[in-house]
Amino acid sequence: MQLTMIGTGYVGLVSGVCFSDFGHDVTCVDKLSEKIAALHKGEVPIYEPGLEDMMAKNVANGRLQFTLDLNDAVGSADAVFIAVGTPTRRGDGHADLTYVYDAAREIARALKDYTVIVTKSTVPVGTNREVERVIRAENPDADFDVCSNPEFLREGAAIEDFMRPDRVVVGLESEQAKDVMAKIYRPLALREAPIVYTDLESAEMIKYAANAFLATKITFINEIANLCEKVGADIQSVAKGMGMDNRIGGKFLHAGPGYGGSCFPKDTKALARIGQEHASPIKIIETVITINDERKRQMIDKIMHLCGDKMKGKKIAILGVTFKPNTDDMRDSPSLTIVPALVGAGADVYVVDPQGRKEGEEMLPTVTWIEDPYVAATNADAIVVLTEWNEFRALDLKRIADEMKTPKMADLRNIYDPREAKEAGLDYVSIGR
Ligand code: UDX
Repeated sequence: MQLTMIGTGYVGLVSGVCFSDFGHDVTCVDKLSEKIAALHKGEVPIYEPGLEDMMAKNVANGRLQFTLDLNDAVGSADAVFIAVGTPTRRGDGHADLTYVYDAAREIARALKDYTVIVTKSTVPVGTNREVERVIRAENPDADFDVCSNPEFLREGAAIEDFMRPDRVVVGLESEQAKDVMAKIYRPLALREAPIVYTDLESAEMIKYAANAFLATKITFINEIANLCEKVGADIQSVAKGMGMDNRIGGKFLHAGPGYGGSCFPKDTKALARIGQEHASPIKIIETVITINDERKRQMIDKIMHLCGDKMKGKKIAILGVTFKPNTDDMRDSPSLTIVPALVGAGADVYVVDPQGRKEGEEMLPTVTWIEDPYVAATNADAIVVLTEWNEFRALDLKRIADEMKTPKMADLRNIYDPREAKEAGLDYVSIGR
């Protein structure tokens, strides 16, 4: 199949590279000439394990190309994927669909033979019908169908999620479009990945409902963790015991400093807005959003309490600032609230993060970046684990404690055993235990 991917952001690039690995001919289009130039040189603009190698392999075998020329790339395609950003619109929490509709108009002008226009970007219910209307208005003679094909890629595990998905969701309304999509996903169907064919609105809804449910699951366990701290229970055991019930499942029950990233904060807000606009508010999601915002304040209080509520002049070492490990993504990371609050209270903050510095330097301008956790710990008044990078999971806690001025650790991801931390000489607090 000839596939064209509009947008070489996270979703577009990962999907384009993976489709080329299936054996399809893929052309990735972007408007940013620097980005396309970098991709031509084999440079991957994001940190995603395995992506660079897979991209190089498929460029070398001629199945993957990058271009600024949308017109040319769309004309010859069997399917064109819209994978542009849908950020939260300023002010009202809605998804900003400007880029989606701009792309639809440009695609419309370039269409030649029958083409399936597939939306991969996360878009509110009704957007695909609007994409159809926009294309029809721009090019009344075009021969096309629209399709909703939301992505469920986790950053840091995106290739694995693409290649071995729990399911693929495809919303469409014509047999012709179904044939095209079935051919595109044939390599996954052969591996027995379930493909859910449904209508456009349901496909759009599945994406929001899935992400909002996962955000709720995390928020639920975070609140249970708070209660565990009060009653003397251990959240790790509670989550394990709960998760063994197949109806609940053990994943996404890890208590922490609150969810962040490019999807959950944006999608929960958008779903809440959609509910309000249809006079069908989803109160549970509205509450989840509020609790997750408050969670960051609770984390700040926890750190300050550990430091005797005096931060002025204290040296605080932060381990991890990206919203989760194995990514360089800082979007909506809890660190963006927690670190400035500590700095604001007078602390000197030292940050270690294996990938976060490139994006983080601008967002956290008042911190000192350090490579080595032990160097960061030297003379520190407290050390805070904010992101559970593997690099931080097996530190010599005794050595850390010895390097510190006052050996205190706030482990907001529960990567250490409280007993071991205590034995190493640390005054140790964590989440829900
Ligand atoms: C998410 C979804 O998982 C993916 O399917 C979707 O399409 C895009 O959004 P991603 O944002 O990359 O992926 O990260 P994910 O691994 O889901 O984590 C999201 C946030 O939740 C992170 O801040 C993470 O630290 C937090 N989290 C996750 C927890 O606090 N506890 C958990 O148990 C799981």
